[in-house]
Amino acid sequence: MAKKVILDVDPGLDDAVAMCIALFDPRLEVVAVTAVGGNVPPHLATRNVQAIIEQLDPPRWPRIGAASPPDHGLPVDGRFMHGIDGLGGCNFEVAELRTPHPSEKLICDEVRAAPESVSFVALGPLTNLARAFQRDPELPHVIDRVVMMGGAVSGPGNITPAAEFNIFCDPESARAVFRSPSTKTLIPLDVTNRIMFSFDLLNQLPDESRRVGSFLRKILPPAFRAYRQEFGLEGIHLHDTVALTALLEPQWFETKEMGGDVETMGELTMGATVFDRRRRPAWRQNMEVAFDIDAPQVIEAIIRNLNAAGEIKA
Ligand code: BDR
Ligand code: CA
Repeated sequence: MAKKVILDVDPGLDDAVAMCIALFDPRLEVVAVTAVGGNVPPHLATRNVQAIIEQLDPPRWPRIGAASPPDHGLPVDGRFMHGIDGLGGCNFEVAELRTPHPSEKLICDEVRAAPESVSFVALGPLTNLARAFQRDPELPHVIDRVVMMGGAVSGPGNITPAAEFNIFCDPESARAVFRSPSTKTLIPLDVTNRIMFSFDLLNQLPDESRRVGSFLRKILPPAFRAYRQEFGLEGIHLHDTVALTALLEPQWFETKEMGGDVETMGELTMGATVFDRRRRPAWRQNMEVAFDIDAPQVIEAIIRNLNAAGEIKA
């Protein structure tokens, strides 16, 4: 039976690639895609979710949740990497802008509708999930598993020297989710950074005649340009797509139980994730953390899953 899942995204190019897989994968039933501000401001995140779903036109359309600003506003956004509209500057049309329910309400409704059966894949800041947990304090016990892309265990951050982007955008919410009694898996930057796609990826995608192929061929070239301009790299990371793969194909990830928390006040370390890695850890273990990855297998899985998405008739 397909696993029910809520995708929480701030599209964002790597969020969009993850959506290409999730919306067509027969192993998943995406009951909702909830937008969150991060790579782009909240209203644009909501618009992008709708635009991506319209572009892809999957066989089963998920419900859409609308993003609202985090309590302290967004300290940064990711448009320097993801383009002015968050989708490589493609400016996709949205046929009819609906007024969807707030993301946190949709999360509560969908999880309550199928207790202990809905997994949550968090590919942006943790604003929505923290709010859902605040709204319904029993929810952490009723949600099946939370898989999150974010943080760093032993490596540097990517938006400050200490902090990873998703956590830095809303550290208070990240802390609330980390401390919640939900079952969690974290896919940190240390692991997602190990996967890099070269330009040859474009030759391995479904062709233009497929909606997924045509969409990816529009959004990925700007991603390669941004990585070259910003970092001098001839390849791209797809952090969120790697995290989604951890839900679909956990056999390629090695994880261990750890105690982790988030720095919410540091002058230099705001948004840094801190794990108790002492010889004798004293913090309670509160999540499973990926520390190793079979990189060739994950690359192969992503390409295979994108091609499978191209095969499915919308
Ligand atoms: C994360 O930050 C965002 O820019 C990406 O979409 C990803 O979720 C990587 O640090
Ligand atoms: Ca993201």
